[in-house]
Amino acid sequence: MSASVVETETTAGTTPATSPAPGSPTLREGAFGNATALSCRECGHQVELGPSYACPECFGPLEVAYDFPAVTREEIEAGPRNIWRYQALLPVPTDIASSPNTEPGFTRLLEARNLAATLGLEKLWVKDDSTNPTNSFKDRVVACALSAARELGSRVFACPSTGNLANAVAAAGARAGIRTVVFIPSNLETPKVVNSAVFTDSLVAVEGNYDDVNKLASEIAGEEGGWAFVNVNVRPFYAEGSKTLGYEIAEQLGWRLPDQVVIPVASGSQLTKVDKAFQELIQLGLVEDKPYTIFGAQATGCSPVAAAFKDGKKVVRPVKPDTIAKSLAIGNPADGPYVLDVCRRTGGVVEDVSDDEVREAIVLLARTEGIFTETAGGTTVGVLKKLVETGQLDTTKETVVINTGHGLKTLDAVAGAVAPAATIAPNYAAFAATGLA
Ligand SMILES: Cc1ncc(COP(=O)(O)O)c(C=O)c1O
Ligand SMILES: [Zn+2]
Repeated sequence: MSASVVETETTAGTTPATSPAPGSPTLREGAFGNATALSCRECGHQVELGPSYACPECFGPLEVAYDFPAVTREEIEAGPRNIWRYQALLPVPTDIASSPNTEPGFTRLLEARNLAATLGLEKLWVKDDSTNPTNSFKDRVVACALSAARELGSRVFACPSTGNLANAVAAAGARAGIRTVVFIPSNLETPKVVNSAVFTDSLVAVEGNYDDVNKLASEIAGEEGGWAFVNVNVRPFYAEGSKTLGYEIAEQLGWRLPDQVVIPVASGSQLTKVDKAFQELIQLGLVEDKPYTIFGAQATGCSPVAAAFKDGKKVVRPVKPDTIAKSLAIGNPADGPYVLDVCRRTGGVVEDVSDDEVREAIVLLARTEGIFTETAGGTTVGVLKKLVETGQLDTTKETVVINTGHGLKTLDAVAGAVAPAATIAPNYAAFAATGLA
């Protein structure tokens, strides 16, 4: 990738605007559940629920505001074993679970005893989101965006993406029976291209880097009526999907918050939404109020947020990404300043690791816990290891590390690092000669 503004699966760097409604202006009652408005994160100005993503007053990012009813643990536990058990806390209608969607979420929270012992941690869990329908956490955000697109009467479900988001949008659109058009840079890795093309006949490879793709998407969103770009004009709804990672971690721990969480950072949306989820659970009385610490993980080749954190800055200086962790390669992260806020407020840090450390961490997680993660997970586990080694993370406290995607999508990253121990003739003598007996 090479551009002055380079990003992945975010609208950062595009002209903030309120785009035309993707579809019918007539919304049905309860279309967005308990959501009440879109609220500016900078100035608090509120706009009505719809396909807007930037504040008309100050161009700050909009996020969904709610008026939550009383919600009980029992009501949630009686819900489906996917993200819709948290319907009351999401901008989706009460009948969302019966609409065709990929039903992501409620992924495994695994106690990682071997990895904990190797790293010297007392209690460690892996939240394994690689087992979502298209093998990344993006299925969560796309499911919420799909609901918004449907309620807004959109004709087309679309996104600019470097891979994981493209896979999730193409699959969700196929299942929902809505036309998808998915835009990717033409130089993407083959597994990511095939994982999208198999679900849609409208995968568009754009001759350019992600920045070019993203700008094109914003232009189309402004020109075409009836298009819902998940991470452009319905981004506030899309982003809320990441809250379900936080809800699930708390519920799966027996309705309590962990002490420490390590989360990968690209645009930074996921990290801020896990924090939002924890805050909501406390406010609703669903978990006990207690301190928790959130750590952000980046690859050194694209670490603008880690750099700002270490420099004590409040703003994030854009960089040109150069890392094997392509899914995290956002040089100009939209939620970067908010990540800094969350990590500083909770006593965490944003740390980064080299590509070699990313590769080593992929193999470490695989050989200790039987989980094959992509480069984003390698970054997160690599940062966890570094935080322990540098004494920045408390090894006596209960820690959760989030694995956001599957290793089969980034095979090349470790293809040179792992290989058969031997290639032999099919006879016992040849095997014995390997010394593996
Ligand atoms: C596998 C994976 N993990 C983590 C992220 C980071 O997400 P966010 O942009 O919300 O920080 C991405 C984003 O593309 C991703 O694909
Ligand atoms: Zn504003």
